[in-house]
Amino acid sequence: MQASLNGPELSELIQGYWRVSEWSLSPQERLTFLKQHVDLGITTVDHADIYGDYSCEQLFGEALRLDRSIRNRIEIVTKCNIKLLSEKHPGRKVKHYDSSADHIRHSVDNSLSRLGVEHIDILLLHRPDMLMDADEVASVFTELEKAGKVKHFGVSNFTPYQFDLLQSRLSSPLVTNQVEINPVNFSVAEDGTLDQLQQYRVHPMAWSCLAGGEIFTRSDTQAERIRVTLDGIKEEVGAASIDQVIYAWVRRFPSKPLAIVGSGSIERVKSAIESLKLNLSREQWYKIWTTAKGCEVP
Ligand SMILES: NC(=O)c1ccc[n+]([C@@H]2O[C@H](COP(=O)([O-])OP(=O)(O)OC[C@H]3O[C@@H](n4cnc5c(N)ncnc54)[C@H](OP(=O)(O)O)[C@@H]3O)[C@@H](O)[C@H]2O)c1
Repeated sequence: MQASLNGPELSELIQGYWRVSEWSLSPQERLTFLKQHVDLGITTVDHADIYGDYSCEQLFGEALRLDRSIRNRIEIVTKCNIKLLSEKHPGRKVKHYDSSADHIRHSVDNSLSRLGVEHIDILLLHRPDMLMDADEVASVFTELEKAGKVKHFGVSNFTPYQFDLLQSRLSSPLVTNQVEINPVNFSVAEDGTLDQLQQYRVHPMAWSCLAGGEIFTRSDTQAERIRVTLDGIKEEVGAASIDQVIYAWVRRFPSKPLAIVGSGSIERVKSAIESLKLNLSREQWYKIWTTAKGCEVP
């Protein structure tokens, strides 16, 4: 269950750690969860400096420190450039983005220290920053690579123009654009983002494949319609749950997205892995599209 991203070898599913601070796990239990998904084949983990109000990397690092041998079996993705309003940064008045060399440099040093590791496998710019100077970013990326602190670079939530702009200044390929893809929000399939990634043979990473759980909990008519359709397709393909159908739908895009699993339940993680066996027909795939839109394709 490996995928190659113009350099790094990652697992086809990625474990997200955005919500780890809500999982109420002890460091030992966090280590057990990590080892379980690594043993099952999910070796890539997704973080950001800001997750859990700057606490999630630290929580993960506590688990890693209990068994350092696990570091060699995982690939760590983390992100930078969002500056949150937080008690940890009392001088900050406005939430904003910062892709300056200084901020990227400091953010990487902080991530390395919180995670307790020597290098980050993939560093992503978390959000497009209207004040991003692509030359400045390129120069700090080179510096971080030369220092051995970051192996590869990518972006998140970038438009195709923003992706091209940054890529034009870099000597190595951006390895991904991490974007939201799920049956209630697939705008990246319509605005050229996924087309560009397919063109460049770059795998997207797909965040919130289950719309943050809202696919199961929302009570509006669109969500109810989607659940009925997903349930029907679940029966047709012999899936165990509708989340498996959703992962199969996300992974069916020809740019071959790597789906990020957000659950802290190992049973749900196992279910996501089982979904790798599923293949949706074109009709099944478009049925979900059509249901989400509420009308047939033109
Ligand atoms: N780059 C970005 O801008 C960005 C933005 C958001 C997220 N991300 C990344 O993407 C990862 C995944 O995002 P996400 O956490 O929003 O993923 P998600 O899979 O869409 O949502 C996960 C949430 O759904 C719940 N859930 C899963 N199955 C369920 C079910 N059958 N019924 C009810 N609830 C269910 C989970 O609860 P349980 O834990 O109880 O299973 C969890 O709270 C994050 O961890 C982060 O790494 C990136």
